[in-house]
Amino acid sequence: MELVPGNTLITATPDEGRALAVKLARLTVKATQPDAEVRQRLRLAYAEDHHSLIAIAQVVATEYATIAAANNHWR
Ligand code: HEM
Repeated sequence: MELVPGNTLITATPDEGRALAVKLARLTVKATQPDAEVRQRLRLAYAEDHHSLIAIAQVVATEYATIAAANNHWR
């Protein structure tokens, strides 16, 4: 499985960078639980659980911090 799509963290805009952060987070879940049927089943639970959703936001924020650094978005 390709864990970094296109094998690069470089993105044209911060918005694209954040979309990549969401993608990377989802790929981590897929790598951890390769069974699509199991993910489908668990999706119902996390999609309606506020703590799960907040946890997801944190994972995405961590991925995005890395991507932003790679792109020098802070300058
Ligand atoms: C769908 C993000 C964790 C299973 C989605 C969608 C997003 C997303 C943005 C698309 C929603 C939509 O377009 O309707 C994330 C992020 C995660 C995460 C950022 C963690 C950091 C999980 C986990 C599971 C899961 C833990 C289950 C084990 C699914 C499934 C779908 C989905 C089955 C539906 C896919 C589809 O209908 O094509 N997720 N998710 N996700 N997620 Fe997650």
